[in-house]
Amino acid sequence: MPNKNQVLGDYYYREAKREGYRSRSALKLKEIADKYRIFKRGYAVADLGAAPGGWLQIERELVGEEGTVIGIDLSFIKPLPYENVKLIKGDVTDPEVLDNFFKLTERKVDIIVSDLAPKFSGVHDLDHARQIGLARIALDSAPKMLRAGGSMVIKVLQGSEFKLFLSDANRLFGNVKIYKPSASRDSSSEVYLICTGFRG
Ligand SMILES: C[S@@+](CC[C@H](N)C(=O)[O-])C[C@H]1O[C@@H](n2cnc3c(N)ncnc32)[C@H](O)[C@@H]1O
Repeated sequence: MPNKNQVLGDYYYREAKREGYRSRSALKLKEIADKYRIFKRGYAVADLGAAPGGWLQIERELVGEEGTVIGIDLSFIKPLPYENVKLIKGDVTDPEVLDNFFKLTERKVDIIVSDLAPKFSGVHDLDHARQIGLARIALDSAPKMLRAGGSMVIKVLQGSEFKLFLSDANRLFGNVKIYKPSASRDSSSEVYLICTGFRG
């Protein structure tokens, strides 16, 4: 007998497929975008940890053809059929890769999103430490790459470093909310920080 998490997981997986999205995760960003209204047409969005591209599809829908979406991932991302969605295969822990990635826009971006996650070992403390290391790289990119007043969406696995990470995010942004989308499994310690009003 499948448990509630499996039933819900299957439901969101089927829903994502039915709507033509590349990942179940796409529904999480859709929910965040509906609730917080941070995306606007014409915006430039940088997506860290973007493979296979479900979030890129949602971002392109939200910014339209006048916006720009740039995705980066260690893994190959099958191109989307839009000229304004640009992709880089690379490692965000390499500062040169991250610099080149952001050079793809002429100006600072309006939104940075990070769904970065390492390969999970199943050992919570280790997975938490690795994931929050990636989330920190995303947060640290804001002063260089995000315009004043811009927003971030950052996935974070909760654990011992979470409180410190949250206070660092609060120092950089006027407002930080913690949100768990319903498409995220109850059993997962992941939450998303919705950071708005970048102090610049
Ligand atoms: C949960 S998946 C992202 C799913 C994506 N948001 C979507 O909807 O399709 C996390 C991604 O982070 C990427 N990743 C992990 N470490 C990375 C790194 N150091 N540099 C770039 N990408 C990384 C992984 O390759 C993986 O594709």
